Formats: sequence, C-alpha cells, structure tokens
Amino acid sequence: MATLEFDEEGARRVERTYATPDVVAQRAQVLALLAPQPGERVLDIGSGPGYLAASLADAVGPTGTVYGLDPSPAMNAIARSRSATRPWIRIEDGDAATLPYPDSSFDAAVATQVYEYVPDMPRALAELRRVLRAGGRTLVLDTDWDSLVWHTTDRELHRRVIAAWEEHVVHPHLPCLLAGLLRRAGFTVPEQRVVVLFNPQLHAQTFSANMMELIAEFVVGRRGVTAEDAVAWLGDLRARADEGDYLFSLTRYVFLATAT
Ligand SMILES: C[S@@+](CC[C@H](N)C(=O)[O-])C[C@H]1O[C@@H](n2cnc3c(N)ncnc32)[C@H](O)[C@@H]1O
Repeated sequence: MATLEFDEEGARRVERTYATPDVVAQRAQVLALLAPQPGERVLDIGSGPGYLAASLADAVGPTGTVYGLDPSPAMNAIARSRSATRPWIRIEDGDAATLPYPDSSFDAAVATQVYEYVPDMPRALAELRRVLRAGGRTLVLDTDWDSLVWHTTDRELHRRVIAAWEEHVVHPHLPCLLAGLLRRAGFTVPEQRVVVLFNPQLHAQTFSANMMELIAEFVVGRRGVTAEDAVAWLGDLRARADEGDYLFSLTRYVFLATAT
C-alpha cells in the first residue's frame, strides 16, 4: 500500500500545517537543541517546505551554508521560493538513503518527520554518519503514533481509522528504535527529549484541525474504512469540540546525536 504522497496538493497541505503555532513551536525547540552557529555547514534531510532550512540559514548566516535535500519536486519548488532571499541555502533533489555529498561535508544535520518514510534506516543512518565530520551533530525527530490521544466517543471506529492512517508511513513506531539505530551507525546519543503537540481546543490554526482532514481522506479504502466511516469519525471529533470537551495530543521524539 502506498504511503503519503508529497505531490503539489500534499506539499501545500504540509506547508499549511507546518505554519500552525504548534509546529512553529516545535521548530523553535529543534533549533534551540541543534544550536546552529554562524559559518557552519548544515544539511536538512527531507527539507519539505523549507521552513527549517530558512531558520537554519538565518542562524548560520551568509558565511555558512544550508543544504536542503528532498525527493519531492513539489516540496522543493516551495522550499526554493522560501529560500530565494538567502542565497546560501541550496535546495536539491535527492533521497536520504543515498546522500549526494562527499564524506565529512557537514558540521550538523537534521531530519525532522522524515525517517519514518525511509524504508532502509540502517543505510540512511550510515549515509548520515558518512557526510558528517567526526564530532558533528545531528538531530532526528519522529512521531510514534502509539502516543496519539484524541477524544472520540466511538473508540472502535477511531482505532480502525488510526490503524489505516498508520499506513501513511513506512515506520509508524520508529522512535523506540532510533537511539539503538543511531548508536549502531556510529553516533553517541547524549540527549533525548519529547515535543508534545497538544490541542485542548479545536480551531483552524491547530495542528490537529489540519491533520483530521488529511487522515479522513487518506484512510478511505484502507483496512476496510469506508467514506461513511471517515465522515462519522470526523463528525465525532467535531462534536467533541462543539460540546467543549475536545482534546488532542501527539508526541514527537527528539534525538540529539554526535558522530564518533
Ligand atoms: C512531513 S514532511 C517534513 C518536512 C520537513 N522535514 C519539516 O519538518 O518541515 C516529510 C518530508 O520527507 C520527505 N521524504 C520522504 N521520503 C524521503 C526520503 N526517502 N528521503 C528524503 N526525504 C524524504 C518528503 O518528500 C517530505 O518533504
């Protein structure tokens, strides 16, 4: 079964969702932890709409360089227009499993919400280690979909919808494996944290308002979920909001690692 597609519509949707205050706050935490310095060379693997690459570029300044790499032409078009005023960003087509850079090219690298889409993780992390200099640092952030809490009254329907949604990635539960994978790829992992996306109310500018629409579209025809099921699931979530007892929370896991 195909995972989520980052075609033109998919890319615009990620761009909208990643502009919500929830994801803006997530990016601020990522930046604070990675702490990019003026003059550094930084790689953003799976750079998507380019928000993080732009912030990284502001931190390293014109004496540094930021490379954004992504296989989606639609994402790269958005990221290039976002980067136009910062000529020290380069957005390139490519895949995490075969990084098109020489050994020891970068001081730091990030991959946020990307590796869960990458089938061969040992290979991707071997590539990540290869392109970082010894002592270089990396920050990896991914979601474990077991961490999802969403108030619904029909929990059986909700479980079916989320089981179907888990097909949008190759690895819906990657965080449990990441520290071990990073260590086996030649990293130490001095710091692990969580970033919680928490919406105690539903409004258009929340992460969960954007996600519920995407999930309702994606799940139809998967794991026996019908269009009527998807409408009923959405209706249940919105009714929770109308009745004042909406609640959504999802945990991202962050790994800060150093190349040995
Ligand atoms: C949910 S978006 C995250 C974008 C960005 N990292 C961020 O946090 O704003 C996932 C991105 O991963 C990219 N992606 C998927 N498979 C990939 C792969 N094998 N190598 C590199 N990037 C990949 C997609 O094209 C998409 O842009």
